[in-house]
Amino acid sequence: MDKLKIALAKGRLAKKSFDIFKEIGLYDEAFDGASRKLIFTNETCESVLVKASDVPIYVERGAADVGIVGRDSLLESGADVYEILDLNFGKCKFCVAAPKDFNGVQGRKLRVASKYTKVAGAFYENQGQQVDLIKLEGSVELAPIVNLSDVIVDIVETGSTLKENGLVVIDEICDISARFISNKASFKTKAIQIRDIIKKLNEYLEG
Ligand code: PRP
Repeated sequence: MDKLKIALAKGRLAKKSFDIFKEIGLYDEAFDGASRKLIFTNETCESVLVKASDVPIYVERGAADVGIVGRDSLLESGADVYEILDLNFGKCKFCVAAPKDFNGVQGRKLRVASKYTKVAGAFYENQGQQVDLIKLEGSVELAPIVNLSDVIVDIVETGSTLKENGLVVIDEICDISARFISNKASFKTKAIQIRDIIKKLNEYLEG
């Protein structure tokens, strides 16, 4: 039987993803946060650790059969994959945030900075508001402070990054958590292996 290929997100979800797979008997080694190792192989699976935003692409394209990724990266990617389970960790929210004294804009489009311009664009489109989207790769909280944007759309977990930069949440867009996703073809061709993991993940979530 072909090994199951798994893509896991580096960063905030990595350790917990690894721990869960260890708990359900898929991995035998523990996650080593200090290691630079990107590929983990055992008798049943081959796992790769990739940037969170790349996980949906690996899974959509079949470079991985399944993966664990935050709903933030999944929504932003628009990848055509099966979203199978909410794993109930990595919980945070997509929010709009602005400086405490922000009062809206008059006579021009709202400038919105984000790493998640697709999500931000869809949010404002739903509200019938045309905005000026500014794509950034990180440290998004800086944008309103240096007058690059009026507001930001970003993930908020503890809220401390916003607080430390004098920003406040002015709108909540949606909840985020880690999701177990599958490539559509693999869901059929590797049905036995994938269904076995889903069963074990469900047992883990219930117990
Ligand atoms: C995310 C997000 C915020 C921060 C929110 O960044 O973009 O900056 O976490 O977390 P908090 O509410 O607990 O403060 P991340 O740490 O993923 O780093 P990045 O900016 O490099 O993406």
